[in-house]
Amino acid sequence: MSGGGLQFTTGRAAPLRGRVRVPGDKSVSHRAIMFASLADGVSRITGFLEGEDTRATAAVFRALGVRIDAPNDGERIVHGVGIDGLRGTDAALDCGNAGTAMRLLAGLLAAQPFDSTLIGDASLSKRPMRRVIEPLARMGAIIDSTDGLPPLCIRGGQRLHGIDYTLPVASAQVKSALLLAGLYAEGETTVREPHPTRDYTESMLRQFGIAIDYAPGIATLRGGQRLRASDVNVPADFSSAAFFLVAASIVPGSDLVLEAVGMNPRRTGLLATLRDMGADIAVEREAVQGGEVVADLRVRHAPLHGIEVPVERVPDMIDEFPALFVAAALADGPTVVRGAAELRVKESDRLATMSTALRTLGARIDETPDGATLHGGTALTGGHVHAHGDHRIAMSAAIAGQLASAPVWIDDCDNVATSFPGFVALTSSIGFSLSQNRPA
Ligand code: S3P
Repeated sequence: MSGGGLQFTTGRAAPLRGRVRVPGDKSVSHRAIMFASLADGVSRITGFLEGEDTRATAAVFRALGVRIDAPNDGERIVHGVGIDGLRGTDAALDCGNAGTAMRLLAGLLAAQPFDSTLIGDASLSKRPMRRVIEPLARMGAIIDSTDGLPPLCIRGGQRLHGIDYTLPVASAQVKSALLLAGLYAEGETTVREPHPTRDYTESMLRQFGIAIDYAPGIATLRGGQRLRASDVNVPADFSSAAFFLVAASIVPGSDLVLEAVGMNPRRTGLLATLRDMGADIAVEREAVQGGEVVADLRVRHAPLHGIEVPVERVPDMIDEFPALFVAAALADGPTVVRGAAELRVKESDRLATMSTALRTLGARIDETPDGATLHGGTALTGGHVHAHGDHRIAMSAAIAGQLASAPVWIDDCDNVATSFPGFVALTSSIGFSLSQNRPA
């Protein structure tokens, strides 16, 4: 049984050694395309993630009349059309697998003079959109959906007004959607968060010339401003580096350097968690690149022990739980995760898909509504697991397989290309035993 699509097969890793530069940051790449499209003037983006998610965003803006050239791999030249220069299209705008694209675009398109329809793939079509529809409606937007799920039919030509909104759930995507709508709204828009989330929208809007007040957990801007073109140098994605932080920690003899990784504090919760578990990770050569701190991360094999993950750290490592689960399954003693119900509405229900995959390989995991207890100390066996079209589940299972006593077959891995093109080639170059094929 193969489940369809791309299949990964693992063997046992050699010690992981060398230097690796993982692809560009997904969150920053999406926003760079969006803000450069809305700016007056031409912006150059370097280090752009050549993933399917971020290419989907670029394709949407092209469909909305923006010229975006791709002279080289990882480079985009965006000919901004100005805040009021987007052109409507009758064609549905396809966000693919990308929740970030759909939620941010919902905010932006709600403020345009034309109607639009946002669609996505099977996984995105199951993800909750009420979290953006509801506060945008309070601003005056009209967005139709069935049961709060995509497609989103957005009625243009509405006059939006600013609101002061407290997010019920910590979400950078919802915050960003409201701030984008706020750029077009009458008066001020303030977004408050129950826990601070990644602040790329705030920092990049400022970089593009927008006056925005923000501090952790709160952001305010006034409508009616214009964006000024700005070049963006995208750092390497911490979430992609995360797989290597775990892999090199668990594979004996490893000594690996991850180069120029984005170190936004709202993203690096896994680094703190792995260190609490005993990992040996050094932060070297810190530098500032386009307003963001980047650093080389040197990770060496170390014995890990289980911990209780601090609940307040969950948003700072929200995309890293699949990788953490691998570390926790192998660690000595239990690891407890709580306050992470959001994982159930990511590209898959990550608490369920990751627990199922690791249980297949012999791990003992008790799932709870908002987390899990991973009992640790597992000697992983081989087996057949399913990634459920979720890139991070596929890559995490690929890491687990590096220590399994027999091959692990992972089905439904095509979506690894959404965030990490070239994953198999890059991992194989530093010691992974990983191959891919397409079973008939
Ligand atoms: C993202 C925010 C997070 C994260 C996603 C990217 C962003 O989602 O999981 O991968 O770029 O703003 P939520 O806002 O739903 O927490």
